[in-house]
Amino acid sequence: MTLRYGIIGGGFISQFHLRALTQVRGIEVAGLTSRTRPEALATYVRDNQLGAGVIYDTVEAMLPHVDVVAIFSPNFCRVATMEIIAAAVRDGIQLRGLIVEKPLGRNMSEARRIVDLAREIAVPTAYFENQIHMKMLQNARTQLAGVAAAMGPLTLARSSEEHAGPHNGWFWDPTQQGGGVLSDMGCHCLAVGWYLLTPLGSDVRRLVPQSVSAHVGLLKWGLPKWRSELLDRFGVDYTATPAEDFATGMVTYKDATTGAISKAQFTVSWMYDKQGLRLLVDGLGPGYALEANSLRSPLEIFIGDAAAARVADAEMALEKATSSQGLLAIQPNEADLYGYTDENIDARDAFTEGRDALLNFEYGLEIVRLTMAAYMSAETARVVDLTDPATIAALETYIPLIQQGRGRELLHITDSD
Ligand SMILES: NC(=O)c1ccc[n+]([C@@H]2O[C@H](COP(=O)([O-])OP(=O)(O)OC[C@H]3O[C@@H](n4cnc5c(N)ncnc54)[C@H](O)[C@@H]3O)[C@@H](O)[C@H]2O)c1
Repeated sequence: MTLRYGIIGGGFISQFHLRALTQVRGIEVAGLTSRTRPEALATYVRDNQLGAGVIYDTVEAMLPHVDVVAIFSPNFCRVATMEIIAAAVRDGIQLRGLIVEKPLGRNMSEARRIVDLAREIAVPTAYFENQIHMKMLQNARTQLAGVAAAMGPLTLARSSEEHAGPHNGWFWDPTQQGGGVLSDMGCHCLAVGWYLLTPLGSDVRRLVPQSVSAHVGLLKWGLPKWRSELLDRFGVDYTATPAEDFATGMVTYKDATTGAISKAQFTVSWMYDKQGLRLLVDGLGPGYALEANSLRSPLEIFIGDAAAARVADAEMALEKATSSQGLLAIQPNEADLYGYTDENIDARDAFTEGRDALLNFEYGLEIVRLTMAAYMSAETARVVDLTDPATIAALETYIPLIQQGRGRELLHITDSD
């Protein structure tokens, strides 16, 4: 059976998923819709025999022609899009699956609304957190399964994701995106840390989060020169409404079965002025370890100053590449490296069998809870206790200061270079 995808959003991530889908059987891209007509994506779909790739003017017009809806549009339109889909299903449209890119919502009330709508219409869900599906992590876990069974599970995981900053203005605007780099990329590292510590074959929520502590900072993009670049490039004003470009923290987990305690450290930044996107993950267990670095590739090229004038496109080499000369790491198959192929395969198999994917919307909600707890910790300079019912209740309605556009109350803005 072939599943017909209908993709909402015609930007960066949709293009990445199309590259992944050229490597996946059993999925065709039947429909596309976006704020502006996604002509280039439709051409890519047809050129690569991915499906009919029909462009629809609205979500409502596309729904009767697809089995699975993939919401790849910006964070600020998630809930409205889900309301439209839920209304159509109530009116009789039949869907086999719903996909939402990370983050599930900008805060708990948005994420909870999305979970509630999906459950009300009883459509299986997939929360797309690609990094869990990365072959390098999956292989490490499988390879170490015997050792972990004999010696004990990993007790420390460290995960970081860094690049030099997002490609579009809305990501930088904390009120539209939900915050800065912690909202945008913290969700990846929080998920990776939790998953790595979880014994192979166990439920992804077996480890129960106990506490979160975090720091946020505006270390590069608050400086005058960089603030004015943001204003020129994206019309985003970090003097008035800044967001964090650096965040780090620690989550403590307790194994619900054994009582064992483990810790996951995360670091994210938009100030990594090196080759481009770097994912760095390691895990330490008693007597064994794993380490993965997405910038290590068997393929390197070198472009000297004399040849640099002929270079066309830095992002050909690597996502968020900032340089087109010197020694460059090349990742020939980034869509596969970052887990996009495998998360689509997982969704295909789950929806074909009428069930949720490995990571469902409820799991996405838990990642939002951890992200909100990290903001709360940074704001209050305290460890947030996730075993305390009053704290859990407070997180349900909590909107971080930065997301409210009040980042100046927390982040340091430098007035001179
Ligand atoms: N998993 C990852 O690593 C990863 C990477 C990048 C983005 N994302 C996620 O994917 C989502 C989209 O990010 P992106 O990088 O593609 O953004 P983008 O800005 O490149 O593209 C967004 C697209 O959505 C369209 N759009 C805007 N408002 C819309 C609306 N109301 N309805 C339908 N379409 C609308 C825009 O025209 C544009 O085509 C975000 O939620 C982001 O967090 C995930």
